[in-house]
Amino acid sequence: MSRAKPIGNLSRAEAAEELEQLAQEIKAHDAAYHQQDAPRISDADYDAMRRRNDDIEARFPDLKRADSPADMVGAAPAQGFAKVTHVMPMLSLGNAFNADDINDFIQRVRKFLSLADVAPLPLTSEPKIDGLSAALRYEQGVLVQGATRGDGRVGENITANLKTVVGIPHTLPSGAPDIVEVRGEVYMSADDFAGLNSRQAEAGRPEFANPRNAAAGSLRQLDPAVTATRPLQFFAYAWGEMSYMPADSQAGMVRQFADWGFTTNPEFRVCAGANELLAHWQSIEARRAVLGYDVDGMVYKVDALDYQARLGFVSRAPRWAIAHKFPAEQATTVLLDIDIQVGRTGALTPVAKLQEVTVGGVRVSNATLHNADEISRKDVRIGDTVVVQRAGDVIPQIVRVVEDARPANAVPFVFPDKCPACQSATTRELREDGDTDVVTRCTGGLSCSAQARERLKHFVSRPALDVEGLGNKQIDDYWDAGLVRTPADIFLLRERYTDNPPEFWRYTSGSREKIGALKDSVVKLFDAIDQRRAVDFDRFIFGLGIRHVGETTARLLARHFKTVTAFQAGGIALAADVPDMREALEDIDGVGKTLVDALAQFFALPENIEMLDALVRAGVAPTPPVEVSGDSEITGKTIVFTGTLESVSRAEAKARAEALGARVAGSVSAKTDIVVAGAGAGSKRKKAEELGLIILDEQAWLDLASR
Ligand code: IVH
Repeated sequence: MSRAKPIGNLSRAEAAEELEQLAQEIKAHDAAYHQQDAPRISDADYDAMRRRNDDIEARFPDLKRADSPADMVGAAPAQGFAKVTHVMPMLSLGNAFNADDINDFIQRVRKFLSLADVAPLPLTSEPKIDGLSAALRYEQGVLVQGATRGDGRVGENITANLKTVVGIPHTLPSGAPDIVEVRGEVYMSADDFAGLNSRQAEAGRPEFANPRNAAAGSLRQLDPAVTATRPLQFFAYAWGEMSYMPADSQAGMVRQFADWGFTTNPEFRVCAGANELLAHWQSIEARRAVLGYDVDGMVYKVDALDYQARLGFVSRAPRWAIAHKFPAEQATTVLLDIDIQVGRTGALTPVAKLQEVTVGGVRVSNATLHNADEISRKDVRIGDTVVVQRAGDVIPQIVRVVEDARPANAVPFVFPDKCPACQSATTRELREDGDTDVVTRCTGGLSCSAQARERLKHFVSRPALDVEGLGNKQIDDYWDAGLVRTPADIFLLRERYTDNPPEFWRYTSGSREKIGALKDSVVKLFDAIDQRRAVDFDRFIFGLGIRHVGETTARLLARHFKTVTAFQAGGIALAADVPDMREALEDIDGVGKTLVDALAQFFALPENIEMLDALVRAGVAPTPPVEVSGDSEITGKTIVFTGTLESVSRAEAKARAEALGARVAGSVSAKTDIVVAGAGAGSKRKKAEELGLIILDEQAWLDLASR
């Protein structure tokens, strides 16, 4: 097609033809993105299409069409839902893939609870529905609020839409607790999905890619009358705030939900152990295609609620539940090309460009090839026929090449020795164990535009700064317009707006709106950015994109340092090898050498220190973490556990201490406040005695922790 041609070589006829194609395609992609929540191409590809359209129009201004994408407003994104902060966060689940993982899960639970092997441990088993989770709040028996999960802490208020969903009662029978929050999954059945798509096709509207996207698109309608025409259903399986608990087991709660009028899953079972869970998994997996709705695995939960309470959570998932996934679905297609993407840490990732194929109900045209070794190991060549698989939300992968189908002209891929974005040399680092790292990296650092741009996207991402209306698309636009290069630039956008003409913003606004509407929407965006100057400190640290610093470690660092100034001073001291700094950090439970090394490397670079300074200058003042429970005598104390505890496991004792706001350390020092010494405690107890610290035996600790 002519699109590969440089614009300077296009004839008028070719240009006219391509402008027509682009107008149609961009319109379809706008609708797919904004109205169906189902983008079919990457943001980068979409933006490239729009740029090509603009460039052709610039060369042939008289060919500009009446329906030119340059003048079109992208279908309005669903804005306007109020935010809802979940009283209890909506969590995710850890994943298991095989019987060993399930046995490990059960063993972990038993160990944490110090349960003997013979003690009964009933577990529930139910399908994991591939839909969207929702939280329904009832006060005095009346549905007063329905919300999406959002990022787990804050969701969107979609009460009116949820009231149209089958299986959600608007009132509860008398006798229900004053406050009830039922959680579950909104989904669309396979039949309803097929029916909706055929109505869409008849009406000349684009079809949905899969039932999940159809359910998401339907729930996010600003007009509840539209949602009401979409056949959505609900399964209740969990809860949030309750003024009291009407049952003492998971199964009892689900029965209660059914009695109140919610639909619950008919495949719900209580199982005695791993064998029964696995038999149930097999039975559902065999009937997966005829259940009538999409499921991507099973969810197992410890049945007894008192055990659930003791097990608690790690990071964002409960210790008492796990998702046992079904195997990935596969399809065969042709590998058209291999692109190289440069990530925020400089990692070069090869991405397979595929002839579009439907895998398990989802259209796939890109798949990751991970790294250079993976391409050699699988001997993947351009032109090959390949087997692609996708599992859940994971990026599709190439499983293998269909060797019999290899064409004579298939081309082996040569991995670039220069970064495609900045032309710096690429390298594979030497790991500590002496092997070469599998990842090829660009050595350009922040001078590489791709790395800098990806770091910005990470900085504004959902688990980090999370500004409504500021996503990857906007970062790309603002970057291309030269408005942002560093995180601090985001906070200077308002100033820059006043310095630039509206025309300029019209072309750089991610939402591509007309000038009138644009002013309101950018001002709204700037207000949202301003509010995030007080972002939670852990999100801020996570957003910096320091290698090995995930959400959990960011929280540990935030709790340790509390302010940007302390964090920066500590980091600089660490990079300069100031005595004790490394020890103090490695002493934080959950922080290891790899992380501390990464921090030292980060603070050894002057541009990173300048980045933090610039953020502070731009008025960013992150909110320090709130201590978990201010009224406990343990809050803020540093505790070391040593020896064997008899009535609770070490893990449970540690989790309890952390839930009360204590810091659990691995070694005894002058900074330790309390040492809990179980049976057989040795050198740590001795050191504590020498230092004159408070030493508690197991019973004294249990008394203190339950006060
Ligand atoms: S329980 C604290 N049960 O899976 C645990 N989740 O990967 C709460 N999901 O966000 C979740 N079916 O949207 C649970 N039967 C089921 C589920 C289920 C689907 C979803 C849910 C959750 C996600 C976690």
